[in-house]
Amino acid sequence: MTKKVFVRSYGCQMNVYDAARMSDILAAEGYGEAAGADEADLVVLNTCHIREKAAEKVYSELGRLRRLKDERAAAGHETRIVVAGCVAQAEGREILRRAPGVDAVVGPQSYHRLPELLRAVERGDKPVDTDLPELAKFDHLPEPSAASLRARGVSAFLTVQEGCDKFCSFCVVPYTRGAEISRPVDAIVAEAERLAAAGIREITAIGQNVNAYHGSGPDGRPWSLARLLERLAAIPGIARLRYTTSHPNDMGDDLVAAHRHLPALMPYLHLPVQSGSDRILAAMNRRHRADDYRRLVDRIRAARPGIALSSDFIVGFPGETEADFGETLRLAAAVGFAAAFSFKYSARPGTPAADKADQVPEAVRTERLARLQEQLEADRRRFNAATVGRTVEILVEKPGRHPGQLAGKSPYLQAVQFDGQAEIGAVVPVRITGCGPNSLFAEPTGGVRPAPALDAAA
Ligand code: SAH
Ligand code: SF4
Ligand code: F3S
Repeated sequence: MTKKVFVRSYGCQMNVYDAARMSDILAAEGYGEAAGADEADLVVLNTCHIREKAAEKVYSELGRLRRLKDERAAAGHETRIVVAGCVAQAEGREILRRAPGVDAVVGPQSYHRLPELLRAVERGDKPVDTDLPELAKFDHLPEPSAASLRARGVSAFLTVQEGCDKFCSFCVVPYTRGAEISRPVDAIVAEAERLAAAGIREITAIGQNVNAYHGSGPDGRPWSLARLLERLAAIPGIARLRYTTSHPNDMGDDLVAAHRHLPALMPYLHLPVQSGSDRILAAMNRRHRADDYRRLVDRIRAARPGIALSSDFIVGFPGETEADFGETLRLAAAVGFAAAFSFKYSARPGTPAADKADQVPEAVRTERLARLQEQLEADRRRFNAATVGRTVEILVEKPGRHPGQLAGKSPYLQAVQFDGQAEIGAVVPVRITGCGPNSLFAEPTGGVRPAPALDAAA
């Protein structure tokens, strides 16, 4: 009987990518995929440390898993539990103390060693591997099978850059992911070609600071993200490109220009601003002012009129006054975001902001978050409503909710449902006819671009 693994991922796109690569590693070790933890011989929790709630969720899940492990043991089945990801990196051995059901702990830069760690578990050890070797994992990952790639759908994340040297005063990422580092162009192109050969039509280049990308090119010189995107756009079968997450200070002229001249680059940009107050931005160590951000938005919109912008916000950073918060509301209103993520500040152990004396009371943070979210939600709906009547191209991802319907994404990353026939992976021009709270409705206008025939050998 083959063993089964269940990988559960929390947090950002980097973790989604890592979870897929861990599945590849374990598939090469003979593990099939389990539908749920209750039928798994191995459970991997790929964790996130970004906010306290995210980290605490891991421990409640580990509590449940321990009970499951005992139940399965009573029925004669062994269950191994591995904690991976950013909580693993941040807390290491502490996890074994707090959650005795855990068999191994492995950080986000060393999971290529999972097979060795599992062998150590078989010998009765409880290994902890939180090394931060630069890029080593990428050299040790097995090639995923075409079938496993295909199961991932028509859109895939591809890690091009990892880690962060920016040290925003609230953020754990520089500690959990390590120093900023870019993968070489050739390795990324080879991976993208494999994705394309397996039928993937859209690639999202990901990194904690993706627009700081400066990997070495085939010419031995560092390439910018704009140059890398141009190269990826030339791969047959790749219809769409996106990238995330960007820092405003790394938005180079050539990347802004790519939004003008690279048709495959979708008109959607996630550009976190965190706050609209210069005082708070300085305390956050973001190294730009609110006006710099506004001017950058103007440049981006000049390059690609109508581009959808999204952002991240933190409310209730230590020392944030009502006036500071008002500046955030003002900046958000001035930009008019198509989508946004907003969070209450969460003090993270080891970060400079956590030690500040002037923490904002929870009730104030809650109330500000509600006000900001109300405004952001109204902007999101306004953006969606404004697309009604327009003709856009949809990348078909899956069957829709009702028979005869298809579901996919607009260039602006909106979920769209429409009646029509096309294969998964086709690009279909549609006219947007209506707008619900979470998706748009559309009708095809004719002129489908079919998905390319797959290479039979892939
Ligand atoms: N590299 C990205 C963001 C990574 S974390 C950037 O520079 O913007 C994703 C988001 O989580 C951040 O943009 C921020 O809004 C939020 N976040 C990070 N640390 C946080 C904290 N301590 N409390 C609340 N939100 C936080
Ligand atoms: Fe965190 Fe700042 Fe780095 Fe983004 S840029 S990952 S918020 S330290
Ligand atoms: Fe979370 Fe780590 Fe991503 S802390 S947001 S999983 S980089």
